[in-house]
Amino acid sequence: MNKNARKAIIAGNWKMNKTRPEAKALLEAIKPLVANAEGNVEVIACVPFTNLETAITVTENSNIKIGAENVHFEKSGAYTGEISADMLTELGVAYVVIGHSERRQYFGETDETVNKRTVAALSAGLKPIVCVGELKWERECNITEEVIARQIKLDLWGISKEDVKNVVIAYEPVWAIGTGLTATPEQAEEVCAFIRAELAKLYDAETAEAVTIQYGGSMNAGNAAELLAKPNIDGGLIGGASLKAEDFNIIVQAAVNG
Ligand code: 13P
Repeated sequence: MNKNARKAIIAGNWKMNKTRPEAKALLEAIKPLVANAEGNVEVIACVPFTNLETAITVTENSNIKIGAENVHFEKSGAYTGEISADMLTELGVAYVVIGHSERRQYFGETDETVNKRTVAALSAGLKPIVCVGELKWERECNITEEVIARQIKLDLWGISKEDVKNVVIAYEPVWAIGTGLTATPEQAEEVCAFIRAELAKLYDAETAEAVTIQYGGSMNAGNAAELLAKPNIDGGLIGGASLKAEDFNIIVQAAVNG
C-alpha cells in the first residue's frame, strides 16, 4: 500500500457561514498561506451556494479549488430551492459535499438520496465528497462497522470502478462534529482502514488504494498532523477550523509535510 500515491485532500466545509465580503476576505487570507501546497496535496474550500461565484473569482489562478455543500440529483425542473450539478459545473465548481451528517440529521437525507446525488454529481463531472459516519449511540452499541459498511454500499450503489476513483470519502463520526471531541488517531485510522477494505470488497484492491479517504470531526491545528500521519487517513474535511485562515493553513501544512 502506498499512501503517497493518493491525493491528500484538505477541504474546508464552511457550512452556513460567511457573507460574500467575509468569504472574499477569508479566501484572500488563505490564498498566500497555502500557495506552496502542490502536487499531491489538494486544497479545497466548500462554501455556501451564495459564495460560489465570489470564491471562484477570488481563487482564480491559485491552487485552491472550490466546492459546494450539496447538490440536487435531478438535472432541472420543479424543485424549488434546489441547485443542479450542471449549475455548479457551469460556475467552475470542482467538488461537492454530499450526505453530510447535518443534511442527514436535519434535512431528511437518506442513503438513497445520497446515492442519487453522488451519481448526478459524477455524471456532471463534479467530484463528490461523500460523508459517512456513525452516531454516538451506534458506536456505543458496537455497530460502527455495520453502519459504515451499509452507508458505503448504498451511497456508492451502481457507481463504476472508474467513477469511484473520482469520489472522496469523508469519515465523519457524528459524535465528533462540532463537539470538540475528536476521534483518536487510532479510532479514525481503524474506520478509514475499514472503509478501504470495504471498497476493496465492492471493487478491488487497486481501486480501493486509489480512493482518498478523509477524516472529519473537530480536526484542528493541534491534532491534524497526528491524524494525517495515519496510513489510511489521506486528508481532512474541516468545519470550524476552516473558518480561520491560520488554523486552516496549519492543517494544510501538516498534509504538505506528511
Ligand atoms: P468541525 O470540524 O467543526 O467539527 O466539523 C466537521 C465537519 O462537519 C466537516 O464537514
